[in-house]
Amino acid sequence: MPRLLTLFRAPATGPQPYRALAAILRQALGQAQARPGELLPSLRELSQQCGLHWHTVRAALQELEAEGWVAAEPRRGYRVLSLPGPEGPIDAPLQPCGPGRAWAPARPLPAPAASGPKPPHDFSWGHADLRGFPLPELRACFAASLRRLKPQDLGYGDPRGHAPYLAQLEAYLRRRRGLLGRSLLATQGSQEALHLIAQVLVRPGDSVAVEALSYGGARNAFLAAGARLARVRLDADGLRPDDLERVLKAGRVRLLHLTPLHQYPSTVTLSAARRRQVYALLRRYDVLAIEDDYDHEVHYRGPALAPLAAQDPDGRILYTSSFSKVLLPGLRVGFLALPPAWAPAFTAARRVASFQGDTLVQDALARWMAQDGFERHLRRVRRVSEQRLDSFEALLQDQAQRGRPWSWRRPDGGFALWLDVGADSRPLAARAAALGVGVLEESQFGPTKKPSHLRLGFARLTPQEQARGLELLGRAQA
Ligand SMILES: Cc1ncc(COP(=O)(O)O)c(C=O)c1O
Repeated sequence: MPRLLTLFRAPATGPQPYRALAAILRQALGQAQARPGELLPSLRELSQQCGLHWHTVRAALQELEAEGWVAAEPRRGYRVLSLPGPEGPIDAPLQPCGPGRAWAPARPLPAPAASGPKPPHDFSWGHADLRGFPLPELRACFAASLRRLKPQDLGYGDPRGHAPYLAQLEAYLRRRRGLLGRSLLATQGSQEALHLIAQVLVRPGDSVAVEALSYGGARNAFLAAGARLARVRLDADGLRPDDLERVLKAGRVRLLHLTPLHQYPSTVTLSAARRRQVYALLRRYDVLAIEDDYDHEVHYRGPALAPLAAQDPDGRILYTSSFSKVLLPGLRVGFLALPPAWAPAFTAARRVASFQGDTLVQDALARWMAQDGFERHLRRVRRVSEQRLDSFEALLQDQAQRGRPWSWRRPDGGFALWLDVGADSRPLAARAAALGVGVLEESQFGPTKKPSHLRLGFARLTPQEQARGLELLGRAQA
């Protein structure tokens, strides 16, 4: 089936329109839109495309035939013969894109992360082992979605998300996290949620309070919106309410970003008492907070504390969470659970940014959730990750007994452990990298006087992989 040619100019309607069309066709052939041996579109198709009578199109093609560009084949049409044509040079040839010059970005944007080869022993990822993901189950859900969805179901839809998915998500969050009465918006990972919050709430020059050591993706979203960062100190029990008060007193803080369940990067769980203090301060200084609950499902020490957002009578907590850590990060499934008054502004911001999320992914996930496959998977991830934490701690003990000055606190949940290496973590991380070991190092998370910690993602590695990586890390320390 011959494909239509793209005719970049409409033929002029002069006294001899067939000549104008012949010139345009010559140009299209000269630019190799159709190659020797290919058939041109039929007379009928070309005449529809150009809005000319087919007699006129035939006259133009006969001219091209006379010039040796094309040959007529009975009952098949016109076939391209040779290029370039006998008419000589073609005006305005197509050109590959030039390199362009770098313009200064309009907003401060972080430098892209260096993308070198992946280290063979990589502790820098805090998520589940993707190799254990039950892909056949999700594949069956995608197949069912593609079978059952009508093409019109995949048209432009609700910027908040696909209704069956939002219904499953609402029930899940109500039952498993105690979230009631919130407006949901499905996002492309929680990174998009952070970006939307920054777009909706941060004015250039506003202060956003962040934990002294914090998640770079969140900081970058605020900085890109023109925020200044105010850092709240941490201690061994997480965010310090007294220091939060100091920061809030200083004024102009619009938002606080915090990771209360498993502080990022130090993994500490904020106690119920501190949570109450934080909420009271937010109230006193009339500040909003983003609760970034990025790995809620994986808590080892009893049931996870209810999110701050589950006890938020004022509606001042913007709750975001992600399934990246427990499913597949590439699916990009995160969400916002908002106080209802904020829903219209965020729906509008979502529409501006990307109109809507991925209906097919959300439909397949809704099916998986309805069949209980999703929660079965979460139970398995929790179980396997806890076993991996046990093996990791045993290996750390072994290294410590062999003289490494390492100490740590068993994390209450999550996929990473915060290791005190008893020395400057920066040169250690550099030496580890030279041995093929990837780690995240304390000074990457914020300014710190004596960086001495590594955040080690243990859950995606088997005990054998953990052992090899730790052995090399120990050598990097020695
Ligand atoms: C604290 C925190 N928030 C948000 C995210 C963003 O995750 P995603 O965009 O994949 O949902 C991450 C990912 O590492 C994270 O650690």
